Amino acid sequence: MEKKLINVAIDGTSSSGKSTMAKALAKYAGYTYIDTGAMYRAVTLYCLQHGYIKDGKVDVQRLVAALGDIKISFKLDGGVQHTCLNGVDVEKEIRGLEVSNNVSPVAAVPQVRHELVRQQQELGRGKGVVMDGRDIGTTVLPDAEIKIYVTSSPEVRARRRYREMLTKGETGVTLDEVVANVRMRDHIDSTRAESPLRKAEGACELDSTPMSADEQNQWMIDYFKHWMEDH
Ligand code: DC
Repeated sequence: MEKKLINVAIDGTSSSGKSTMAKALAKYAGYTYIDTGAMYRAVTLYCLQHGYIKDGKVDVQRLVAALGDIKISFKLDGGVQHTCLNGVDVEKEIRGLEVSNNVSPVAAVPQVRHELVRQQQELGRGKGVVMDGRDIGTTVLPDAEIKIYVTSSPEVRARRRYREMLTKGETGVTLDEVVANVRMRDHIDSTRAESPLRKAEGACELDSTPMSADEQNQWMIDYFKHWMEDH
């Protein structure tokens, strides 16, 4: 029997465990995982490398003029997905605090969103994709068969991000700084004019505050299995 392919859209606040559960589901289902946050992060890294961001302000004109020169791709390295910027593996750089602190204003630039949404829709055209972000269910893949909206308390999310950064060797950052960053990004992401973070119509909401990563991953896989059985 031919394998049924669907698209899964997972949206939610930063560090709510979206990407971990998206990866777990993609592995279980044999689907392609697309981390759209990594794409906004890669554009931000390009801006930082080229001096387009000064004191948190983005030179939108120069960024928009350079958009055609920013090529983002993904490669698998030992089974782990790495993000490449113009062919260079930037997975480590895009997870650092400098990029985290500057990504929200870059992601709020309409021309950046239009271009990345276009690329993301292209990636989802063939189905069999698990995509995570902020606007996947509302804007990128509004026809996705499964839509999940994940929330979690800011303190729990900051602690997750902090642990993740320490594991990756990103030291010299305090937990308080990470809490402040999480709160600031929540605010910008949910109040921006272009595709603000919000629950898509028909999305299933999951509050992951009390869940371990394993519980969250299992919840996602079970949800997918039940959906497949019912359709
Ligand atoms: O998921 P993340 O924390 O890696 O996302 C990084 C930033 O990119 C975050 O501030 C919100 C933004 N983003 C977005 O605006 N739209 C998406 N689809 C994904 C991420």
